[in-house]
Amino acid sequence: MPPVKVREDLYWVGAIDWGIRDFHGYSTNRGSTYNAYLLLDDKITLFDTVKKPLAGQLFHNLQRVLDPEKIDYIVVNHVEMDHTGALPEVIERVKPQKVFCSKMGQKALEAHFPQAKNWPLHVVENGEKIKLGRREVVFLETRMIHWPDSMVSYLPQEKILISQDAFGQHYANSMLFDDQVDYCELMQEAAKYYANIVLPFSAQVQKLLATIEEKGLEIDMILPDHGVIWRKYLKDIISAYQRWSAYEAEQRVVVIYATMWKSTEKMALAVASGIEAEGIPVKVMNADTVHRSDIMTEVMLAKGLAVGSSTLNNHMLPIMADTLTYVKGLRPRKKVGVAFGSYGWSGEAVKHLLKFLEDIKAEVVSEGLKVQYVPTHEDLKTCAELGRKLAQTIKQG
Ligand code: FEO
Repeated sequence: MPPVKVREDLYWVGAIDWGIRDFHGYSTNRGSTYNAYLLLDDKITLFDTVKKPLAGQLFHNLQRVLDPEKIDYIVVNHVEMDHTGALPEVIERVKPQKVFCSKMGQKALEAHFPQAKNWPLHVVENGEKIKLGRREVVFLETRMIHWPDSMVSYLPQEKILISQDAFGQHYANSMLFDDQVDYCELMQEAAKYYANIVLPFSAQVQKLLATIEEKGLEIDMILPDHGVIWRKYLKDIISAYQRWSAYEAEQRVVVIYATMWKSTEKMALAVASGIEAEGIPVKVMNADTVHRSDIMTEVMLAKGLAVGSSTLNNHMLPIMADTLTYVKGLRPRKKVGVAFGSYGWSGEAVKHLLKFLEDIKAEVVSEGLKVQYVPTHEDLKTCAELGRKLAQTIKQG
């Protein structure tokens, strides 16, 4: 995509990664973008760069706006290499007067790039303001959203927040603004991004939202480092971040299971039928066929979790262990759950599933349900009752 004018003197000059489908374990079904922004003021400033293999796209875009050697300042809001991979080449070609970063950013840059010791790094404090000419930029630390070095850049005269990973989406699109793309796709990708990247740092998100409120920062646009720019649906995404960071979920359930000879699958479907019978929406996800990052999105959005697995060698099935290890690491909270599974002769899977629910601090509403070999009609009625009980608890709020 060629450079896009965001506003007078402000351009998107990033790169689109249409083909990426795996972002260290996150399935990026709609590709991604690495956004960089160029501000033309007395001090010409580039905010963030792109992944190393896409440096060519960045240079191509810069050259269509101006000679890159005219750039005075570079801002590194976040050191992860999807935003700094191209930085050494950019610094070499641009020879900037200053490269702004946080204190942790300096450490991370020096750890990633030995040559950073020779770069004109300028560490900024939380809240520090730098004059660029007619405009200023204010740096606000956002530690752990999503690395310790992370910060955002606020342009008060433009009422623009350049938010690095926060408010991002892995969403490749030839259009740059939220009102130019499909709203449902956009919100789904924003939710998936939050669930799979930002959720463990929800306390820090609440802090950022509180800072925006306390400082009375007026924001007309949010420019993230991935996906599209928020201008029309600002209120929607901010209110979604408020809900997600407070672990508010919808009155619905996700049934996640893995099955060996379809007995646990029969149980999963029976549990789902009990949930449906109570009028609560339910999604059934087989861990063998649904990517863990899609499961994680549903886990964040749903209040209820029903987890099931056959027993294999005294444990749950490996694919279920994989999925739940991933889910647990992302620290979902305020869930209501049940566990179930079929077994041949020992049946430890359910015990391990209950431990998972305990680890994520879920409210477990029933003892685990185990069925030996193949569930009978009566067993399936018991599974449906388990689903009903879970749904009733959710309805009670
Ligand atoms: Fe988009 Fe944490 O990097």
